[in-house]
Amino acid sequence: MKKLSIAIDGPAGAGKSSVSKILAARLGYAYLDTGAMYRAVTYEALERKLTDDDAIADMAAKLDMEVIPKEDTMHVIVDGKDVTPFIRTPEVSSHVSAVSAIAGVRSAMTAIQRKLGEKGGIVLDGRDIGTTVLPHADVKIFLTASVHTRAIRRFKELTEGHPDMTMEDVEKEISRRDYLDSHREISPLKQADDAVLLDNGDLTLEGTAEAIIAICRKKFPDFA
Ligand code: DC
Repeated sequence: MKKLSIAIDGPAGAGKSSVSKILAARLGYAYLDTGAMYRAVTYEALERKLTDDDAIADMAAKLDMEVIPKEDTMHVIVDGKDVTPFIRTPEVSSHVSAVSAIAGVRSAMTAIQRKLGEKGGIVLDGRDIGTTVLPHADVKIFLTASVHTRAIRRFKELTEGHPDMTMEDVEKEISRRDYLDSHREISPLKQADDAVLLDNGDLTLEGTAEAIIAICRKKFPDFA
């Protein structure tokens, strides 16, 4: 059985990265968290105090970005520095939708993602994998859950580092990001026509990974 390319798209807090990590570990596949790449570009733009879209696109095109899967998470190395600890702050989260809507940023990131994804044996999570990055991915999943459920999950993740954030703040921020990501002009967050919709509101992360493996088996009966 050939190694598949599995695209997992969906809104913030759907559990895409956690589920993708479980799947990749179980299948012995690589894992690419494409959101982390957009976050790294956003972090660099904030660090360099760039506000102009062209300047940010120019920076993104020139960045030396490397992604290294490690056990806990995928690490992003930018110009030799591991920026992973800095890319999930509320500040980066609040700017990432605007940065990822810039055409030059998307083309630079998409080129890297495609190169890694085309080889197969990989799980990619993002917003536009099934529609733009890998339109011929072997399996496409659109993973979602209600805004409230997703906010509860993010709230649990966030409160350790940011005890000042309320559940209401998190729900508002998720809704705002969903809106921006699904209404941008280029490659908006959207379910691909041939993607399987999976609402994991009542599923654990393990249960979600199992459901995705079942979807893969249905399409490729000799799959793992
Ligand atoms: O998955 P995440 O929440 O870490 O993603 C952060 C942001 O990056 C998300 O709000 C939109 C953007 N993104 C994107 O535009 N395209 C992708 N393939 C992945 C993420």
